[in-house]
Amino acid sequence: MPYKSDKPAAVTTTQLALMKQKGVKIAALTAYDAPTAALVNEAGADVVLVGDSVGMVKLGYENTIPVTLEEILHHVKAVKRGNSRALLVADMPYLSYEVDLKEAVRNAGRLVKEGGAQAVKLEGGLEIAPVIKELLKINVPVMAHLGLTPQAVHRLGGFKVQGRKPQDAEKMLTDAKILEGAGAFAVVLECIPSALAREITRKLSIPTIGIGAGPHCDGQVLVSDDVWGLGEGAPLKFVKRYADLRPVMLKAAAAYCREVKDGAFPAAEHAFESAPAAKTA
Ligand code: KIV
Repeated sequence: MPYKSDKPAAVTTTQLALMKQKGVKIAALTAYDAPTAALVNEAGADVVLVGDSVGMVKLGYENTIPVTLEEILHHVKAVKRGNSRALLVADMPYLSYEVDLKEAVRNAGRLVKEGGAQAVKLEGGLEIAPVIKELLKINVPVMAHLGLTPQAVHRLGGFKVQGRKPQDAEKMLTDAKILEGAGAFAVVLECIPSALAREITRKLSIPTIGIGAGPHCDGQVLVSDDVWGLGEGAPLKFVKRYADLRPVMLKAAAAYCREVKDGAFPAAEHAFESAPAAKTA
């Protein structure tokens, strides 16, 4: 008897390609732990990304460059435990795929074998095409990432919009075609003009997933902490806050601290009684 399940079918790279063909938008969100992964799945995300943004969002780094493979692996394992339906994509951190192909294969393989990732994401254009081909040989699907690639922040001179000049836009389009040709199943377009994202989206048969790339991409991705408003200060231009949870959390934590100090917490209902005295004959 065939196995039956009420769960919606798990998302695959093939389904993402079909979504593009049918014009169904792809929703992707980051997650770095099991409960967030479960929540993001329940919310209906098609892709859950363990981004190296974890370095900035959760680990207190200034940028994504210090993030290590072990750190990503730790978070991928947690997300895997909370994930049910979404395609689980793990970012390959800086210097885990650039040095040589063998190292890239070993590191991507670990994210899949030990972490449970179903695909990996790499930043870069033409230069990562050989890595994509090598990873496909060990059956690791690759999502590419163009535009503002945060691992290149020092070369780019900061977190700036990319592809505004015609020659840069032309190069990005060429890179996108090369990445598709090398076998990438999707490409993230970060912080580029909407018109360029539309052109790349039109010219590729694989889905484009935008972040700060306007409305014409085949899907969108945001850092989940940005979606629920956990960051300090004003959000970046391309972020839409769907909630404002930081002040709510701050208020709750401050109320707890106050109540501990003035003795209001714990109250009787939060405390345990001793066992009733044993009856004597
Ligand atoms: O690291 C990350 O979270 C990302 C997304 C923002 C695309 O690369």
